[in-house]
Amino acid sequence: MGNLFILLIQSNYRSAYFIDYIFRATLITCRLKANIDRTALFYTLKQHNNQALLTAFSIMLLDNKLREDAVSADRTYHNTEAAYGLPNDSIEHKRLELQHFNLLELMGGRIIHAPLGPDITHALDIGCGTGIITHEIASKLPDAIVTGIDLSPIPAIRPKLPNIQYLQGDFNELVRAGRSTPEAAKFQPETLDYIFSRLLVMGMPHWQSYVSSVAQLLRQGGWAEIQEWACVWYDAPASASPEAFLPHDVSYDSTNEVNEDALRSDEHSTDPYHIQPQPTWSALINEALRAKSLDPAAGNNIATYMHRAGLTDITTRRYIWAFGGWEGLSEEAKTFSAYADEVLTLLIESLLQRFGAEMDVDPREIENCIREFREDVRSGKRRLYTWYSVTVGRKP
Ligand SMILES: C[S@@+](CC[C@H](N)C(=O)[O-])C[C@H]1O[C@@H](n2cnc3c(N)ncnc32)[C@H](O)[C@@H]1O
Repeated sequence: MGNLFILLIQSNYRSAYFIDYIFRATLITCRLKANIDRTALFYTLKQHNNQALLTAFSIMLLDNKLREDAVSADRTYHNTEAAYGLPNDSIEHKRLELQHFNLLELMGGRIIHAPLGPDITHALDIGCGTGIITHEIASKLPDAIVTGIDLSPIPAIRPKLPNIQYLQGDFNELVRAGRSTPEAAKFQPETLDYIFSRLLVMGMPHWQSYVSSVAQLLRQGGWAEIQEWACVWYDAPASASPEAFLPHDVSYDSTNEVNEDALRSDEHSTDPYHIQPQPTWSALINEALRAKSLDPAAGNNIATYMHRAGLTDITTRRYIWAFGGWEGLSEEAKTFSAYADEVLTLLIESLLQRFGAEMDVDPREIENCIREFREDVRSGKRRLYTWYSVTVGRKP
């Protein structure tokens, strides 16, 4: 049914009524049958520029139960020593899939930003989650072996392409283990042409050493691509030009060097819209992350880490993660904001609960943080946003 739907759109069949009917039938099928190629469906919708169906597609992924499930007490987590703190259950898988399509929309239908040539033989997706990007890389590079590694098992929600290998494990442990196990033997210096990772901000400790490991694994001429969010918040004045919030490139200034503590601090910014001091709720999350040697500002710092790891040709493209769908945002950013408001707010509230409890914060203070967060996101007094940065660098 999914493939029939794709064919219908490709054939430019424009009877809205009929398409709508088929679409609904496809949605039901997508829910029931896990193996429909949602990525192909997304690209077809995108290619035919059908915004209404794209939005419907996104809403389909966010089925009604996701909100209820997200706050249920029965969540499951990985059972390793790694610092990563988000769940690993089917509710989280659904969220990650939904997030992927919202990111695709935000980034104009393009996930991979590195200028990959046809000569790639080995690629790696670190922290691959549901494997959606591993699948994307493997489809783009059918002659390459593409490895996806994650702490938790990769759910079987799409057909596994023949050039994909999945590994369960902690990337840092495998790199440290040298050649001591068959899995670790796959992570040897100068063996990979392309390394991708996305959204490890909640789990990757010691970012400099992580990015240096990535650089070490790359062959000469190989590309690293790291897509990260920063838990650093901005408030756009109503007078700001909407252009400031469109996707844009940020040049890396190696003369602007600061030490690692300053890098990891959410107070380190010269951006005029940066909220200083950070709101109480952001300060709580970031303190908890720093206590686990994580970098809350990771997304804003990848270029620095890559430069220090010896990579060159570093470029960063930034995309806005706005909350509250305020005026001045592009349609794509508003679509992402709808996802952020519906889903990321719940995630942030649950992090405030968990991190607060971990750090023995008085429950009343935690409640205050949650209240202030809701007020900041929903009252419309603030035009809140953070940056999602795609940074690529090449091994010289
Ligand atoms: C927020 S999810 C993002 C998943 C995927 N990259 C995406 O964007 O859809 C982060 C993933 O990284 C994995 N992860 C975190 N720390 C890791 C580590 N040290 N080694 C391997 N995987 C890790 C988690 O298990 C989780 O699946």
